[in-house]
Amino acid sequence: MSLQGIDAVIFGVADMAEARRFLDDWGVSPVSGSAEKLLYRTRDGAEVIVRPKGAADLPPPIEDGNTVREVIWGAADQAALDETVDRLRGLASFRIGADGLPRVTDPNGLSLAFRISKRKPVVVTPTPVNAPGAHQRINQRSPVHNKATPINIGHVVLFAADFAAMRAFYTETLGFAISDEYPGHGVFTRCRTVGEHHNLFILNRPGRAGINHVAFTVSDIHEVIGGGIAMSKKGWKTEIGPGRHPISSAYFWYFENPLAAPLEYYADEDFCTEDWKPGTFERKPELFAEWAIAGGIDGTTRRQRPMEDKSGRGHA
Ligand SMILES: [Fe+2]
Repeated sequence: MSLQGIDAVIFGVADMAEARRFLDDWGVSPVSGSAEKLLYRTRDGAEVIVRPKGAADLPPPIEDGNTVREVIWGAADQAALDETVDRLRGLASFRIGADGLPRVTDPNGLSLAFRISKRKPVVVTPTPVNAPGAHQRINQRSPVHNKATPINIGHVVLFAADFAAMRAFYTETLGFAISDEYPGHGVFTRCRTVGEHHNLFILNRPGRAGINHVAFTVSDIHEVIGGGIAMSKKGWKTEIGPGRHPISSAYFWYFENPLAAPLEYYADEDFCTEDWKPGTFERKPELFAEWAIAGGIDGTTRRQRPMEDKSGRGHA
């Protein structure tokens, strides 16, 4: 498969100033900002683009309110981009945009664009772990993160108005590999055979297209927790998290936000090759989360607040 992953996500929002405040706290890097367009980048160069929802040149929304207006998928090089275009050229929605990028509309009505990727690989060294007899972190303290710095836009999750059509479009027309599946209800797909567990999860919601969430990868569980606590301290509301998904194995924390459906920090997802064995699962709540905290952790428990020591003994 010729695509590398998500190169950019374009949001259409009601309140540009609130979107800017959120993204500054979220930890992506500001590149430029005006009343008409905000541009931020993740560590690897994936772009978060925010526009006023009424901007005339935005593709039409697939749902009311703040939402994703376009996903731009990145190809490794021109040959890979050409291969993708060959897959799409016969579709009725195929077009070349004013910016020269090939585009189609998926069966949900979401605009997709394709370009040679602007992302540069980031090599992360997650915190090594220690266990008796298996010490990987020697003479080195484990970090505490005061904020997250997202590495990439790892996946989007779409509510499919016509699940069968969306599944066929992404897995057959575009050629995404299936990593795991809730038959008839949801399918986890990845755009590279050798790659992270999912770049796109499609959920069946008959007749009502929408965005379920957009997810940003961070380096490890410590950055999920530290980043989430930092967002909480700044007043952003948890949608759910922290927690862990048994399917994909990732640690997660989702936040409500002024850009779209929830945005997610996540880390430590499964990495698949052609030898990955896709599973089929019955839809059950405990497969969304092995464990999760409903409303976040805020960093203000009695052992996290500076407190008056009345005992005279000090605190351990
Ligand atoms: Fe996710």
